[in-house]
Amino acid sequence: MTRYAMVTGASSGIGLAMAEALARRGRNLILVARHREMLESIAIEFTQRFGVEVLFRACDLGEPLRLSGFLLELEEGSRSIDLLVNCAGIGNSGPFLAQEWAQEQDLLDLNVLALTRLCHTVGNLMAVQGGGQILNVASVMGFQPGPWMSTYAASKAYVLHFSEGLREELHKTGVKISVLCPGPTRTAFFRTAQLDAGKFTHDNHMTAEEVALYTVRALDKNRAVIIPGWRNRLLTRVPRFAGRWITRKLWGSILKSRTSV
Ligand SMILES: NC(=O)c1ccc[n+]([C@@H]2O[C@H](COP(=O)([O-])OP(=O)(O)OC[C@H]3O[C@@H](n4cnc5c(N)ncnc54)[C@H](OP(=O)(O)O)[C@@H]3O)[C@@H](O)[C@H]2O)c1
Repeated sequence: MTRYAMVTGASSGIGLAMAEALARRGRNLILVARHREMLESIAIEFTQRFGVEVLFRACDLGEPLRLSGFLLELEEGSRSIDLLVNCAGIGNSGPFLAQEWAQEQDLLDLNVLALTRLCHTVGNLMAVQGGGQILNVASVMGFQPGPWMSTYAASKAYVLHFSEGLREELHKTGVKISVLCPGPTRTAFFRTAQLDAGKFTHDNHMTAEEVALYTVRALDKNRAVIIPGWRNRLLTRVPRFAGRWITRKLWGSILKSRTSV
């Protein structure tokens, strides 16, 4: 039976780079994001360049009803998924009380609920087929509170802790869980999260391709927590060395000065 790696958020940024890194290794793909035309052209390109089978499914994973329909298709379909990369995610920034509630809801629906439901459905399918691998995309922001990006940072803390917990739980089912915690990466994320791109020097930031290359190698080794880049690994240690009070103040002043709202 043909096996597929399914990548959500595959139309741009880290998800696209992950899909390309996997296709380069000969993996058949199922690409998921909202923009059908982008997925279609990526599928055609990867099929031609890498000779792999690339399917795509346009779906707004943050819409509970559309997500349910998609999950039902996966359950009733005959495609075997042996790798799920849960990369689709959004950020937002600015004072929490001034945010439109709909924006906060969208973030939680996608970053938390969709990711968790995909793990539940695909995890069950994998357990039945005797195993598989799931990579959830969190962030270095998941290691500490992120004032002025409080909901986003908390959603990534959820993804980090949920993934580590699940890894232990599913150990005996053959379903391996890893969590990717990238630091600042050159993608559209900064624009969509309304962070002031002008206040970030992207020189130190990794590219999505660098993150993906590091990650596929770490997945081969079944690493639990994957943090690409030494600067980012250092960042995740700040709370341990500086304590929670200093960490809150530090991230508060960094993020407040960089929100464009
Ligand atoms: N860039 C960074 O600095 C950074 C750092 C740490 C963690 N991350 C995490 O990395 C992941 C990927 O972000 P990125 O940096 O690659 O940003 P990006 O380029 O904006 O990619 C986001 C992806 O998610 C998809 N997406 C957004 N809303 C969706 C929805 N409702 N349903 C389905 N797909 C949706 C987008 O495609 P469509 O618009 O076509 O739907 C796109 O493919 C996110 O989880 C983010 O939190 C990023």
